[in-house]
Amino acid sequence: MSLTALSHCGPRCSLAVRHLVQQRSLWAGTFRSAQLTALPKAPDAAAGFVRPPRQLSSSTVAQSAAAAPSVLSRADVITDHPFNNITDTIFQKIGVNLHQQPGHPIGIIKGAIHDYFDSHHPTTFTKFDDLAPIVAATANFDEVLVPADHVSRSPNDTYYVAPETVLRCHTSAHQAEILRQGERAFLVTGDVYRRDSIDATHYPVFHQMEGVRVFGPQDWQASGMEGAQYAEVELKRTLEGLAQHLFGEVEMRWIDAYFPFTEPSFELEIFFKGQWLEVLGCGVMQQQILDKNLGPGQKAWAFGLGLERLAMVLFDIPDIRLFWTSDQRFLGQFKAGNMTTKFKSYSKYPPCYKDVAFWISDAFTENNLCEVVRDIAGDLAEEVKLIDDFTHPKTGRTSHCYRIAYRSMERSLTDDEVNALQEEVRSTVATKLNVELR
Ligand code: DAH
Repeated sequence: MSLTALSHCGPRCSLAVRHLVQQRSLWAGTFRSAQLTALPKAPDAAAGFVRPPRQLSSSTVAQSAAAAPSVLSRADVITDHPFNNITDTIFQKIGVNLHQQPGHPIGIIKGAIHDYFDSHHPTTFTKFDDLAPIVAATANFDEVLVPADHVSRSPNDTYYVAPETVLRCHTSAHQAEILRQGERAFLVTGDVYRRDSIDATHYPVFHQMEGVRVFGPQDWQASGMEGAQYAEVELKRTLEGLAQHLFGEVEMRWIDAYFPFTEPSFELEIFFKGQWLEVLGCGVMQQQILDKNLGPGQKAWAFGLGLERLAMVLFDIPDIRLFWTSDQRFLGQFKAGNMTTKFKSYSKYPPCYKDVAFWISDAFTENNLCEVVRDIAGDLAEEVKLIDDFTHPKTGRTSHCYRIAYRSMERSLTDDEVNALQEEVRSTVATKLNVELR
């Protein structure tokens, strides 16, 4: 998703790393590297299978498998409200819950992180992994102090069911609600949704894990530290341990960052396979969030990380779309609890490139184009890339040319099928995006 006015990677973010597995940050100037996921055998959209928002459970057990999933119909998610920007492609991802599948790479990473917290802090962290992804806009933004004019609130970046309801764009959306329930240490895993570009590391649905731990005066008084300092030291110690648990003995460094919900804020980077790689974002929770939702006199740390990003790096998974495949040549390579798998590509089928050029209008955005392409081509769209950007010196009109790479990860595509997709993209772009084809 394009995130901020400065929606590009800061100077400390190596281009090579970004290329490999990066995720654009929601937060000004920083570059989150969390994202990432790809196309499942789409469940039957018409059948509807989404869990509606419901009470948060507070069990310390990872899953509430016993809870019968309620059904949320397509009509609950895709409405004709002018603000609604959810497509069928997105609707079909809701309720798939890759993070709840123990043998799926996303579930394996979640399990490894749970193992770490369970072994270092037995029974301390309450785990949530079935909170519905449809949340109030206030929870997604206001309650975690995202400024009113922040770009992440734009419908160009976030999926809106209605002006006051969104598909969460981060698991931080649950912080305040869970604190209000009195939880003092918790991990929340879930699918998050962002309108974004199309390439090997960006996908409009991916999975995050959020962690929060609250401390009271009895925790820091004995240490001789102030509360905020204690929380920061505790945070860094905990997350360095986590990185080591996942990556082994690696060099690490802390980078100052900005997030609306923490102060100070940091990113943890590790030196892995010859590159500095961002692992997570974190910080000392903004006092206001804690005071308002839990009560005064406490301190807390919080972190957020992207499971696809970690899985891609740890398992050598080259394309984020693979997470959604039902192909056993992919899924069969992974096993619950096994963190040492290195993915072996099965044959790579040839890509087919098609260009589309048009005069843009002021309202044109690349995210809107990508949304059109995804809705037509699904996971056959591997990349959408701007290859020419030209402004006519006399008329002042701007023309863009995008190259779309079509490629299936499962089979060879025929010319006819790609041509049909491209034709549909062209005509939809012309009618829906208010651009003039060239
Ligand atoms: N919500 C952030 C994101 O999506 C990740 C994050 C960063 C979560 C820092 C946190 C945190 O809780 O403290 O990019």
